[in-house]
Amino acid sequence: MARKKIALVGAGNIGGTLAHLIGLKELGDVVMFDVFPGVASGKALDIMQSGPVDGFDSHMVGSGDYAAIAGADVVIVTAGFPRMPGMSRDDLVSKNAGVIAQVAEGIKNNCPDAFVIVITNPLDAMVWVMQQKSGLPPEKVVGMAGVLDSSRFRLFLAQEFNVSVEDVTAFVLGGHGDTMVPLTRYSTVAGIPVPDLVKMGWTTQEKIDAIVARTANGGGEIVKLLEKGSAFYAPAASAIAMAEAYLKDKKRVLPAAAHLNGQYGIKDLYVGVPVVIGAGGVERVVEVQFTPEEEAAFKKSVASVEELIAASKKLVG
Ligand code: APR
Repeated sequence: MARKKIALVGAGNIGGTLAHLIGLKELGDVVMFDVFPGVASGKALDIMQSGPVDGFDSHMVGSGDYAAIAGADVVIVTAGFPRMPGMSRDDLVSKNAGVIAQVAEGIKNNCPDAFVIVITNPLDAMVWVMQQKSGLPPEKVVGMAGVLDSSRFRLFLAQEFNVSVEDVTAFVLGGHGDTMVPLTRYSTVAGIPVPDLVKMGWTTQEKIDAIVARTANGGGEIVKLLEKGSAFYAPAASAIAMAEAYLKDKKRVLPAAAHLNGQYGIKDLYVGVPVVIGAGGVERVVEVQFTPEEEAAFKKSVASVEELIAASKKLVG
């Protein structure tokens, strides 16, 4: 059987890390596409040259021609501009919506059967633009944010409890960023919910509140430290978990920006919810029951996603 083909649109910091992880995990062959084809080709060659040392045979090429992504099984999209100091969220929407519309056209014409994972920010709006403009089935177009947000949440909880990250599960919902909604009662250490751990004296509610706030600002904390650019190792690892769930039909339950068509009372929006990812793409949206406070936080988050999508609609129709 031929190896799977994974196209990475955007060969920047996240794109390069994605290619490296795909090699190390032997998930498939890689095509990196970028408006700077030299960067894409250089990274592809450099990473492929680590194959003999690390023991992988993935073939990697770079290109500036969409024909190169033809027949891809998975496309991971990071193309776009980063948010620069002084830029509003709306400025970023207008720059990146145009980029995503172009990428969507490239996917539609060359690999309409692919599973597409969008990472470009503002995430919930960009994944909506991707689905609209590519015309791909909504279950084959998802946004990566929840795996990253919940991974950050898991790390901070593990550090607080001094336990392995492997034994901490976390549950987040809603849009990516400030309005993300962590559900602490569904977040656990080896199955013990966080509110119970507070009662058991493992931590205090104040500390949990601080961890929640730090998680919601997780991207901002890294931007401040890096000064030039945003997080890339954890975002890349998160998207790879989603790609692997699809390619291996693992039916993993992961939080992702998914197209809602009535679930949670929402129509035609992309919002972060737990989903089952398998060979069919997003095979199921998991609908949980909210407490009144959770419902209010979720609604607030959805309202901010709606605003971003409305801004995108004006730009790309
Ligand atoms: N088509 C293809 N590639 C493009 C296009 C386009 N129209 N416009 C820009 N690019 C490429 C850039 O040339 C660059 O190589 O996208 C790449 C983006 O890479 P970085 O600037 O290094 O950004 P990165 O850190 O990888 O993040 C990408 O993910 O998390 C989000 O907010 C982040 O939106 C950003 C995206």
